[in-house]
Amino acid sequence: MYSHNDTQISLLLADEIATVTFAAHLAPTIKAGIVIYLRGDLGAGKTTLVRALMHAMGHTGRVNSPTYSLLESYQIGKLHLRHFDLYRFNDASEWEAAGFRDEFNGENVCLIEWPERAQHLIPMADMEITLEISITATGCNGRNLTVRAISQTGLECLNLLRN
Ligand SMILES: Nc1ncnc2c1ncn2[C@@H]1O[C@H](COP(=O)(O)OP(=O)(O)OP(=O)(O)O)[C@@H](O)[C@H]1O
Ligand SMILES: [Mg+2]
Repeated sequence: MYSHNDTQISLLLADEIATVTFAAHLAPTIKAGIVIYLRGDLGAGKTTLVRALMHAMGHTGRVNSPTYSLLESYQIGKLHLRHFDLYRFNDASEWEAAGFRDEFNGENVCLIEWPERAQHLIPMADMEITLEISITATGCNGRNLTVRAISQTGLECLNLLRN
């Protein structure tokens, strides 16, 4: 880890193996009801991180990108996970009809790619994870990752990550 302060940590994920390692640290901090925004451009590595997180939490099946479905649902042990990709979401009137509002029930773990596409509809995040493509002098094509705690729940998660 190369930087941190009270509410945020940043680190370089040099390759996908580093993403898997980070996901293994994140997995035990995930509690029922947490809402995590995943920010970053197309191809920044958001789905890769979610996939690694699900597997680190014990999911053994596939993790498909919700690119077209907008939402993929999982159960891992007692936890219910909801993986949103809202890039293609554009009709606010469909939010409720699709049942999306009900998914934020304080129990489901909600992992949301492209939250800015529905910013007035989704609840505030407990934690925000931002990924940026990083090209170093040596040509290494990794990702800069920043985890920012927003709520008390997010802060508890972040403090566990620091240990
Ligand atoms: N830490 C990493 N280092 C290098 N490459 C990575 C890393 N994480 C992911 N990638 C690569 O980035 C590519 C895009 O990843 P991914 O599909 O996860 O992006 P995304 O942020 O979900 O994009 P979208 O916004 O389109 O859903 C994949 O080819 C993946 O192999
Ligand atoms: Mg994605």
